[in-house]
Amino acid sequence: MTVDKSGQRIRRMFGAIAPKYDRMNHLLSFNVDRYWRRRTVRAVQPDGTAPILDVCTGTGDLALAFWRYTRGACPVFGTDFCPEMLAIGRAKGRRLRAEDCVEFIEADAQQLPFEANMFQVVSVAFGLRNVADTDQGLAEMTRVCRPGGRVAVLEFSMPRRQPMKMLYGFYFRHILPRLGQWLAANEHSAYDYLPASVSQFPEGEALVQRMQQAGLHDVRYDPLAFGIATLYVGIKPS
Ligand SMILES: C[S@@+](CC[C@H](N)C(=O)[O-])C[C@H]1O[C@@H](n2cnc3c(N)ncnc32)[C@H](O)[C@@H]1O
Repeated sequence: MTVDKSGQRIRRMFGAIAPKYDRMNHLLSFNVDRYWRRRTVRAVQPDGTAPILDVCTGTGDLALAFWRYTRGACPVFGTDFCPEMLAIGRAKGRRLRAEDCVEFIEADAQQLPFEANMFQVVSVAFGLRNVADTDQGLAEMTRVCRPGGRVAVLEFSMPRRQPMKMLYGFYFRHILPRLGQWLAANEHSAYDYLPASVSQFPEGEALVQRMQQAGLHDVRYDPLAFGIATLYVGIKPS
């Protein structure tokens, strides 16, 4: 069965779970998601020389991780098409006194409101899988990245080695959706959508190829936590 990724459905689904999104994320990933975002930032090593963009930023954790790493030396933009998620990101930015450096903007990842070649790093964490047209999302990220800059994709994947493959597969398909629905009841079956969308999304070499087709080179990937997530980084040719 094909997963429905129409913009309206995805926006409504994240709008409904936005108030509980952060808590659920940390709980269902046993807090490892925080480490994955820090790892993403370290992998691309931004400096203070040009702005950074995090698309599908949701509640802004990766954008704020970039801000922490660069100590506010360059502007960081977080974009998302779900206003409820962005509102939480903005509130976090204010709490951290990061609002002068981190700006949250409502925008579709398939049509970014930025000129070409602007950002030293363009990232997406657990977002590309939700974008209706993966290739268009990657093309836009590449377009706005400056030559020599890095495009990073952090996404869920499925472990390939036993016994993790079997254990995690069972947790992900059978326990997580029930736990998610129980703790963050919503009429959009958001936590059924999660395993379904992950199973249909390209991973490993398949995603590397899609990133190369978008114009990136030297694309590398690193499975994290036994392959529960994978970090991909590509470079835009100079
Ligand atoms: C699973 S959340 C990830 C949020 C955040 N990046 C994180 O690491 O927690 C996916 C986000 O992608 C956003 N999203 C999905 N499709 C989008 C699109 N086409 N344009 C902009 N945002 C999109 C959703 O609104 C949601 O906030």
